[in-house]
Amino acid sequence: MSFENILREDAGGIATVSVNRPDKLNALNDATVDELQRCFEALHTDDSVKAVIVTGSGDKAFIAGADISELASQTALTARPLALKGQRLMNTIEGTPKPVVAAVNGYAFGGGCELALACHIRYASDNAVMGLPEVTLGIIPGYGGTQRLPRIVGKGRAMELILTAGRVDAEEAYRIGLVNKVFPQAELMEATRKSLGKIISFGPVATSFALGAVNHGSEMPLADGLNYEATFFGLLASTNDIKEGMSAFLEKRPAKFTGT
Ligand code: COA
Repeated sequence: MSFENILREDAGGIATVSVNRPDKLNALNDATVDELQRCFEALHTDDSVKAVIVTGSGDKAFIAGADISELASQTALTARPLALKGQRLMNTIEGTPKPVVAAVNGYAFGGGCELALACHIRYASDNAVMGLPEVTLGIIPGYGGTQRLPRIVGKGRAMELILTAGRVDAEEAYRIGLVNKVFPQAELMEATRKSLGKIISFGPVATSFALGAVNHGSEMPLADGLNYEATFFGLLASTNDIKEGMSAFLEKRPAKFTGT
């Protein structure tokens, strides 16, 4: 699969997807959204990949937003499909049945912040700055930001950030729960790989079910979410991984999960 605007590098079961338009601070133009969509659809079913990192090329930006030069030519007829297309990408990323971590290595504005919000975990470098500045352009976040930001940082904080076009540095992003951890810039990728290395050492079926239970269950009424959780819990009892995990504990040895 060949791409012009993104890079994919696989190593040790982890695919690193980098938006690669550093001269435009990795802004998401239409072609890049298409490539990310194709890339993530392939990652969903690629058994050689156990986890994914998304980042931006260069040391300045993760993704500085949707490409404003393209946004500027939107009409009432084209803007809604554009938002739906971006939302489809974010849903595809969020629905990846293996862990996806955003390594936020600089500016993450607008669509870049929304892409990070769609990832399962967010790690930031200490130079990261994040925000949804769309109102400064006379628009609102259209790739899921108005919905995912409140679910992650709470409605009050999200409302203030969106209405004031607020920008938060890495420390503040960590304080409000927008990112899970902050690392010195030079250590971000290695720390992210280390964290994912630990995650992928666990049973991939359990990891995938946990992702599904949290992602889908949290959008359901509590009783339905609990029922969903119990169903996944029950299904896992039929796997070889549960036998291996329990035996390994009782035999005081590390588990060797096979994903079966
Ligand atoms: N869309 C298109 N191009 C973008 C972009 C975006 N979202 N963000 C940055 N760029 C381009 C700039 O136009 C510039 O291109 P040029 O060299 O051809 O003129 C290049 O990236 C470098 O950006 P520049 O603004 O010169 O860098 P900076 O360090 O002075 O400022 C930012 C960095 C991130 C503060 C600034 O680029 C910015 O505010 N970007 C827009 C952020 C935004 O509003 N995103 C939400 C969009 S919905």
